[in-house]
Amino acid sequence: MKYLKLALIAATAAIFIAACGQAANTPVANNTAPKANQNAAAPAPTLNPAPVAEADLGKELYAKNCMICHKDSGKGGKVTIEGKSIDPDDITTAKMKEKADEKFVGYINEGFPDDGMPAFKDKLTADQVKAIIKHIRTLQGS
Ligand code: HEC
Repeated sequence: MKYLKLALIAATAAIFIAACGQAANTPVANNTAPKANQNAAAPAPTLNPAPVAEADLGKELYAKNCMICHKDSGKGGKVTIEGKSIDPDDITTAKMKEKADEKFVGYINEGFPDDGMPAFKDKLTADQVKAIIKHIRTLQGS
C-alpha cells in the first residue's frame, strides 16, 4: 500500500514536470491570463509576449504602434516624429466610425507612407490588426 502511494506520487510528479517543461518558455503571466486560447492559432507575436484579453491586447497594440501619432484618444493632431512634422488624422470622427473594418485593415496594412504613416503589414498579424480595430471602435464610442 505504501509503495502504491509512492508510485502514485512519483507518477503525478512526472506528469507535472512534463507539463512544466512544455510551458517553460511561456511567461508566468500566462497562468493568470483570463483567456489562454489566444495563443492557440499562431506563435506568440513578438510585440506581445504575454497573452492578455483581447480588449487589453488591442489597447496595448494601439499604444505601442499608433498612439505616438494618433494619441491616446485617437484624435490625432500635429506631431513631430523624427524631425518630420506630420498631421495624423482623427480616427474617431463620425466618418471614420461608419467605415467598415476592412477599410481600416487596408489603412493599417498599407499605411500612408507619403503622409508619414508607416505600413504595418510586416509588423502586425491579421489578428493583431483586428484587435487594434476593436480598440479603435471603443475610442469611437460604439
Ligand atoms: C508615424 C505616425 C503614425 C503612426 C505610427 C500611425 N499613423 Fe495612422 N496616420 C498617420 C497620418 C499622418 C495619417 C494621415 C494620412 C493622410 O493624411 O493621408 C494617418 C491616417 C490614418 C488613418 C486614416 C484616417 C482617414 O481619415 O482616412 C487610419 C485609420 C489610421 N491612420 C490608423 C492608424 C493605426 C490603427 C495605427 C497603428 C497601427 C496608425 N494609424 C499608426 C500617422 C500615423
